[in-house]
Amino acid sequence: MAKTGTKAKDPAVRAAELRDEIERHARLYYVEDRPEITDAEYDALLRELIALEEEHPRLVTPDSPTQRVGGTPVGELPSVRHEIPLLSLENAYSPEELAAWVKRVTERLDGRTPALVCELKIDGLSVSLVYEEGRLARAATRGDGTTGEDVTPNVKTIHDVPLALKISSKGKIPDVLEVRGEVYMPKKSFAALNKAREEAGEPLFANPRNVAAGSLRLLDAKITASRRLSAFLYSIARWEGAGGPERQSESLFTLEELSFPVNPHRAVVSDVEGVLAFLDKWRTKRHDLPFETDGVVVKVDALADQKRLGQTAKFPRWAVAYKYPPEEATTVVTGIVVQVGRT
Ligand code: IVH
Repeated sequence: MAKTGTKAKDPAVRAAELRDEIERHARLYYVEDRPEITDAEYDALLRELIALEEEHPRLVTPDSPTQRVGGTPVGELPSVRHEIPLLSLENAYSPEELAAWVKRVTERLDGRTPALVCELKIDGLSVSLVYEEGRLARAATRGDGTTGEDVTPNVKTIHDVPLALKISSKGKIPDVLEVRGEVYMPKKSFAALNKAREEAGEPLFANPRNVAAGSLRLLDAKITASRRLSAFLYSIARWEGAGGPERQSESLFTLEELSFPVNPHRAVVSDVEGVLAFLDKWRTKRHDLPFETDGVVVKVDALADQKRLGQTAKFPRWAVAYKYPPEEATTVVTGIVVQVGRT
């Protein structure tokens, strides 16, 4: 309906205008990195176009900006409720804190120190992937642990992530499989991205983790695809069907068999000395890895023990994250330039 005194614009004309405008602003934002309008203004244009197309479906063109990401409502990503919450980990910052954690675990298991799995802590963004009948059905970010964001089209652009599972040696694919892991940007992709930005005179990204997080949460999966992300999966949260794993070490092996990328640097140890040896090994060597890692995650191996240990309100009692202390760096100040601005 036209407002009093104004003549309603032909919807086809307005839709074409909006399409041109949105394309222009998307180009300014993504390609030229000199946006002329705010994100909110951009979203308002898209929403107007979506509303118009919903009202007049014949106006939808295959190349409309609303069609870029299959069916994703523009403006914000759809939210997904996690069937099993994604918890975070308790941290240990010293060998003493680590030993205290092992002692607590041992006490809770009636004096038996269980086998422990040491894994590198990947510095990325945690994701949860659901496979139904062997096919990737949904990918979600952690969000607040209970509700995350649906990033399925974006995750599908990550070449490491299988869209369909391979059959494991047990000859089985679970009916429903939920796996968890970390999406990250390899150091090489990060360096190449920043080099290209520098050459184009664009502002540089601060670190791979931030770019990985930002890239995964874009509404336009084409941009995600150009960012060259990778992933490591490290846990099986749900296995519906016969033949599920009984130990964390077995889960990692099964994930590999199902064709997931799994970090190969891991060890099963029997006591705190074993964990400390793993920590020592990777303290400096981690800098030579092609991805960023900020510590080691130690997990109780047997899933039955994990179940027995349970969780507090925030953390599982069966795992701990050991964080390497930040390394000291020396910066030499070679000069100070004083500038006088307009004010
Ligand atoms: S296990 C119950 N294993 O670190 C939580 N987490 O600080 C189980 N992370 O939220 C998490 N590498 O995003 C686990 N090998 C690894 C990991 C890992 C990185 C992240 C994960 C988690 C955060 C906790």
